[in-house]
Amino acid sequence: MQKKFEDKVAIVTGAGVGIGYEIARQLAVQGGSVLLNDVDAALADQAAERIREEGGVCRAVGGDTANVEVVRGLVEKAVADFGRLDMAVANAGLTSWGDFFDYEPDTFDRVLGVNLRGSYFLAQAAARQMRRQGDGGRIVLISSVTAHQAVRYLSCYGMTKAALEMLSRNLVIELSPYGITINAVAPGATVTPRNLTDDPRYEEIWGQITPTQRPAMPEDIANAVLFFLSPQSAQITGQTLVVDGGWSVVSPTPALDFVEKQQKA
Ligand SMILES: NC(=O)c1ccc[n+]([C@@H]2O[C@H](COP(=O)([O-])OP(=O)(O)OC[C@H]3O[C@@H](n4cnc5c(N)ncnc54)[C@H](O)[C@@H]3O)[C@@H](O)[C@H]2O)c1
Repeated sequence: MQKKFEDKVAIVTGAGVGIGYEIARQLAVQGGSVLLNDVDAALADQAAERIREEGGVCRAVGGDTANVEVVRGLVEKAVADFGRLDMAVANAGLTSWGDFFDYEPDTFDRVLGVNLRGSYFLAQAAARQMRRQGDGGRIVLISSVTAHQAVRYLSCYGMTKAALEMLSRNLVIELSPYGITINAVAPGATVTPRNLTDDPRYEEIWGQITPTQRPAMPEDIANAVLFFLSPQSAQITGQTLVVDGGWSVVSPTPALDFVEKQQKA
């Protein structure tokens, strides 16, 4: 049986570990040829090697996606190595916690550089190549629930993620005539090595405040991304899919004991 992404070529940025790694792994398992990027070149090499050990086609490229030459180089390398480009996932993102009153301009610029310039120019370079090929393509931007819900100490990060969702809506106008779709996936709390380093109790704590009683695993996010990359999503563009176990649709309420009392009366 033919695999879903056979003969398709993908770029996934920030994919040495975590969500991006899982997206790259799943694409390769399902027959895609993957160019895997990470700012840590050694980590990218190790990740690509692990995917190849599973039988996937995957090559590593080190480089900082905030550098426009790097993201343009990724597209050039995908075409040089695999002959074309069908999918681009702008996953590299910097999660930057900081008190608004003390937030530094250099940190602000760095977060915008990775989250916005990196994603914007990857989308541009990928779309130019897809337009040249003339047979469509898929672009996915990685947002966050913090694009919709205010979370303390994430003013700058949340702002960039909201901007990415608007970018995907805006580009519907210019990309649709070429058969290119662009969508965003907004993960909620996800169990990744970074989050577990920040807080070893991450899984337990988020399990307590998430309606599904667990945080997401990278597989949950990758499943949503692969849907947007697949032929099945051809008529869906400019959308955001939230993957957060219901966390962002629930409002905190005070104790509602009076309801139970009324029901018992
Ligand atoms: N983990 C979560 O809970 C969560 C929640 C919402 C959104 N997200 C978003 O999902 C994406 C992936 O998150 P994650 O937690 O798996 O990532 P992460 O922070 O664990 O980083 C993954 C990899 O990206 C690489 N990277 C960082 N900056 C880079 C750059 N400038 N260029 C290339 N590579 C770079 C890192 O070296 C790392 O190996 C990000 O865009 C993040 O904002 C994550």
